[in-house]
Amino acid sequence: MGRVEGKVALVTGGAMGMGESHSLLLAREGAKVVVTDINAEAGEATAQQIRDEGGEAIFIQHDVASESQWQDVIDQTISAYGHIDILINNAGIVISKPNETTTLEDWDLTMAINSTGVFLGCKLVVPAMEKASGGSIVNISSIYGIIGAPNAAAYQASKGAVRMLTKS
Ligand SMILES: NC(=O)c1ccc[n+]([C@@H]2O[C@H](COP(=O)([O-])OP(=O)(O)OC[C@H]3O[C@@H](n4cnc5c(N)ncnc54)[C@H](O)[C@@H]3O)[C@@H](O)[C@H]2O)c1
Repeated sequence: MGRVEGKVALVTGGAMGMGESHSLLLAREGAKVVVTDINAEAGEATAQQIRDEGGEAIFIQHDVASESQWQDVIDQTISAYGHIDILINNAGIVISKPNETTTLEDWDLTMAINSTGVFLGCKLVVPAMEKASGGSIVNISSIYGIIGAPNAAAYQASKGAVRMLTKS
């Protein structure tokens, strides 16, 4: 029996990188996985790989910076699987620049995806988890949300925000 047998897990940024790994591992441990990402082709491929391995998964295209898309994803998850037990707030971007060359657009985009995306996921999934009598939320911050470095100002600020939002 897997460690998350029968649970329903939603993984943002599940098309590639760590999110793909989180999705595959959760499925191998028995979860039904909802893979979301802005990248539909790679996201569908992650969900297909899970199904090819005998697991259950669907892909939903999703920009984590959009509140309305978050609500759609949660509604589609409940409609497909009945409940949500696990949310992995993984989607994130890095724009590697020091503060003085970071544009306002760089800053706003990084904050929208890395910080606001996590805020929205936590806010909107909790009512669904309360209906199901509980759940777990995993927010992926970074060592760069704790320590300083010279070349990723917006990223560091966004990941520090994730760390403190999670504590709150
Ligand atoms: N890779 C590392 O060494 C490392 C270290 C610490 C923290 N992290 C964090 O882990 C997470 C995953 O990192 P990774 O290295 O796998 O990144 P990655 O770039 O390989 O994958 C990120 C995924 O997020 C998706 N994405 C980007 N913008 C999105 C949006 N607006 N809405 C939904 N999905 C979106 C991308 O399409 C991609 O599939 C990030 O939050 C990152 O900051 C990574």
